[in-house]
Order: sequence, then C-alpha cells, then structure tokens
Amino acid sequence: GGGKGDGARGLRFAPVAPNTADTVTVPEGYAQNVVIRWGEPILRGAPAFDADRQTAEAQAGQFGYNNDFLSLLPLREHGRQVLVANHEYTDEQLMFKGYDAANPTREQVEIGWAAHGLSVVVVQEERRSGKLTPVSRHWLNRRLTATSEFRLTGPAAGSDLLKTSADPSGTKVLGTLNNCAGGTTPWGTTLHGEENFNQYFANGSSATDKRYGLSTGATERKWERFDKRFDAAQEPNESHRFGWVVELDPYDPDSTPRKRTALGRFKHEAAQPRLTRDGRPVVYMGDDERFDYFYKFVSSKRMKKGDSRAAREHNLTLLDEGTLYVAKLTGDSPQDIDGTGKLPNDGEFDGSGVWIPLATGDVSHVPGMTAEEVYVFTRLAGDKVGATKMDRPEDVEPSPRTGRVYVALTNNTDRGKAGKPGADEANPRNLNKHGQILELAEHWDDPSSDGFAWRLFLVAGDPEDPATYFAGYPKDRVSPISCPDNVAFDPYGNLWISTDGAQLGSHDGLFGVATTGDRRGELKQFLTVPKGAETCGPIIQDRRVVVAVQHPGEVDGATVEKPASTWPDGPGRLVRPSVVAVYRKDGRDIGV
Ligand code: FEO
Ligand code: CA
Ligand code: CA
Ligand code: CA
Repeated sequence: GGGKGDGARGLRFAPVAPNTADTVTVPEGYAQNVVIRWGEPILRGAPAFDADRQTAEAQAGQFGYNNDFLSLLPLREHGRQVLVANHEYTDEQLMFKGYDAANPTREQVEIGWAAHGLSVVVVQEERRSGKLTPVSRHWLNRRLTATSEFRLTGPAAGSDLLKTSADPSGTKVLGTLNNCAGGTTPWGTTLHGEENFNQYFANGSSATDKRYGLSTGATERKWERFDKRFDAAQEPNESHRFGWVVELDPYDPDSTPRKRTALGRFKHEAAQPRLTRDGRPVVYMGDDERFDYFYKFVSSKRMKKGDSRAAREHNLTLLDEGTLYVAKLTGDSPQDIDGTGKLPNDGEFDGSGVWIPLATGDVSHVPGMTAEEVYVFTRLAGDKVGATKMDRPEDVEPSPRTGRVYVALTNNTDRGKAGKPGADEANPRNLNKHGQILELAEHWDDPSSDGFAWRLFLVAGDPEDPATYFAGYPKDRVSPISCPDNVAFDPYGNLWISTDGAQLGSHDGLFGVATTGDRRGELKQFLTVPKGAETCGPIIQDRRVVVAVQHPGEVDGATVEKPASTWPDGPGRLVRPSVVAVYRKDGRDIGV
C-alpha cells in the first residue's frame, strides 16, 4: 500500500534508492502518468507530432522542447488548472535525424526557434487520482516562441543600450530565450528567467559581451546565419534585450508578455516573489554562473487584491518601480574555513548579510554607472560594489510558513582553483562538486529589510562524506543528494529539491526535506529520472507531484539514430522531454 515509511507529515513515503534506471522511479504505492510530451498539439489547428515531418509552423502550435520551470494556476472550471511551462533550449541532435551540426538547415533552425519559449496549456484532473491530462485547443492555451512579440518595460525600457536597427524604440523584442526556472506571483502571473542567452549570439566583442559570456566567434547553433540579429557584430544591442525576467499573464491570451528591466539583466535562473506586510512584492533572484551574485528587487508599489480589471492592470505595473539590491554575505567563523567543508567550531556555516542597493528607478547607487547601465549590465554593478561571489545561485523559494528564503547553490568546481576565489563560509568547499542550500532570514522577517542572517541548511553530497551537512540531522538517516537546482514548498512547509548533474553515480531526482521541527534536515528521495535527464519544475500539491523531465537522453555523442534513452515511449521512438505527474495509487494525499 501507499504511504509506507515514517517521516514528517507530507514526507511519509519509502525513499527511492539511488539508481540508473532509464525511467521515472517513484516510491512504492505511487503511480505516474506523462502529462504532456514535447510536440503534442496544444493550439487549435496544430497537427499531431510527426518526427519525420516536423515543421516550424507545426511546432509553434505544439508543446515546446526541454520543459524546465512549471507553474499550476487555479481555473474556475471544474477539475482544471492552467499549466505554464518554460522551454529552456533545444537539443537538435536528439530532435532531427541525421542532424549536421556544421550546416543546420533553415527549417531546422526555425523549428528550434518555435520549440523555445513558453507554453500555456490547461490540464484536467482525473476524478479519482492525481493524474493530469492536457486539454488541447482550450482558449487559454498559448505558445510564445523565439519570434513572438515581447515588450521591455521599467526604467531601462527605451534606453539607447536596447535599440536595434529593427527596433529604434528600444521597447519591442522578438522572442524569449533560455527560460530556465521562474516563479508564480500572488497576483496571478508567472515569472520566467532568461538564463544562458549568451549562447545564441555570435561575434561578441565588447567588455560587457565578455562579462556575459558571449562567444567571440560563431555559435554552436549557427542561428546568426539565418537572422542577423543573432550576430553581435551586426546588431551589438540585440543581446542586451535578453537576460531579463519575463512576466506573463496566463489568463489573458492576447496580452504581450513584459521583460521587466527593473529586475536587472543577468543569467536569471529564477524569480520568486514574497509580499511585505504592507503588500509590496519583493522578488529574490539568482544569477547562475560560477562566482556570480544573488539579488532582490523591492517594489515601491502595493499589490491590489481581487481580480477586477483595475486591480489586474495595477498589479501588472508592480515590477516596474522599486529598488534592485545585491547580496553581500559575511561569515562569523572565517578563521575555521579551510575549503574542505569541515564544520566551523561554532557548529554552523553561518553569518550575516547586507543588501547593497544598485539602483532605484532612474537613480543609480553605483559610482561611475548610470541607472540604465546598472540595469543592462547588472553584473558589472555587482562587481563594483563587492557583492559575494556565490557557487552558482540557482532557484530560490521563500517558505510560505516561516518566511525564510532557501537558495540552491548548485556547485562550483572552479572554487579555489588557481586565480579563482577560494572558499568562504557561505561557499565553504573548494572544487565544490555537490553544492549547498542556503537559508536566509531577513531582519524582523521583513522582506524589504536591508540586512539578514543566513546559515547553510544543507551541504550536499554522500552523507558518508564528512564534508556534508544535513541541518544537523543524523546522517545515517538521509538520502544522498548532489547538485540542488530547483526548490519548491509543499502544503506542509517541507522543502522539495530537484537536482541537475548529480555526481554520485545515480540519475538526477527529486527530494523532500523538513525545514522545521525534530525532523529538520531529514532528506528523503522521492523519485529519479531517466538517463541524461535533469529534474525540473517541481510542484507539490496535496494529491500530486508534478515534475519536468528535461533533456532525457542528453549524453555526449547521442543522436536520434543512437539514442542514450528510450524514455518515455520505448525503443524505436524518439526520446522526448515531458511533464510527469506522480500520485498515490490509493488516491490519498502525497506523503501523509
Ligand atoms: Fe538552466 Fe541554472 O539551470
Ligand atoms: Ca536546465
Ligand atoms: Ca559559523
Ligand atoms: Ca536550473
């Protein structure tokens, strides 16, 4: 029967053992279904998926590739919710038979554009289980791709730094790219981080191009051959129009999504808001790069409650006015940090932090940079003010129960290498392969505070490795974990963590851990994903866990002809990134 195993409420299941099965492995007593696969039609008129006759037009009406962030929003239709998904990037060698990476065709490139972006698709709950199925052709269903129209808003919109020959206004952008994780706002919109946008732009040459990692030559995808906006030598400002947080209103299929310049430009992993006591949103954000920074944005405007037209229009301006900050962390045991991960003598990796203001509206707080420069070249602003160089800040989630903010720092194998920064108390291991999770408590539990306390909640790895820490919980009673990436809370206040690139010989997976009470730190593995995949977008509802299985079969040298994985449809069928729902066979709630 389901629900075996003790644990904190919500985490009562028998943990899944580390494994390398080419499937989604779930606890005993649990079942699963593939909710939607790459290529399934969601818009009216879109054809069924046909790998041998794929076209860009078909793809633009079908679910995109490499699903990452997921959000489920309520809908006033019985048993239905609105699923919003990010499609981070494409794996052409796993999408096209005989793909020639040196010479992609225009059709392949245009299919790639149409497979990027976002999907909105209504899903139907099965009455007696947690199973979910898509409602194709629902009027809310929507695709946004690398060629859909987006608008830049906020203090840097219209800046000379954002103007191109195709858009002299500096406000109208075609497409969103590399949407990794994201967030859901209390006013019913979704946020989507544009992460590794640098990879789409060829021939970068400026100092800022270099800081953002643009290639100095051709790109791997070769899009620059088919649209000159992807060639920085011809359109040097086009890349400045990516690397933002996108806000989408999934309830209005005619709305133009906005890129919010007030939240800064970097490799945005995610963006998760929390409200101050007086109703102003504060958005926490990581820049996923080795030695990059952690940020927050504090809005100056209060959210209006209700879903009147006036309230909705007002709430769509909340992320355009406020102050952008970057984090500086100081440990309280600097003398004990030796780069091995050995606990300091005070028993914890912990300390205090300050939020350094970078810009408020049109006013820059960074000497030598205008406000527009701070927003467009935010990494350089962080460099100038001495922000703390972190081990790849990925997803972030405030606890709805305690207000504490959890930041996944996935790994940093360059920490402590020659010429690179060494360990500090928040990033305590050199050559850090497994990552850690930081817990941040704002002063007075006020998200708009300018100071905070922090401690490491988990230092990931094999619990038998002395350089690991599970909030002080006995390590013989936890699952091994490596490379935390996405984080989410369940209805009971447990933190759920999905991994990307686990380095312990098991496939990636999803874990749950209590954050309060006697069982704080008791980490349990809930599922594993197929070969080559990472686990993304976890959503934990009463009756189901939903995950995005991203890039299954993505293994060096794998192709359509020589696949590394046969998930989800078995041998002879294309491996397809998909969304999966997991629920109890007995129909009861997850983990109770
Ligand atoms: Fe796209 Fe930082 O993961
Ligand atoms: Ca990813
Ligand atoms: Ca300490
Ligand atoms: Ca990620």
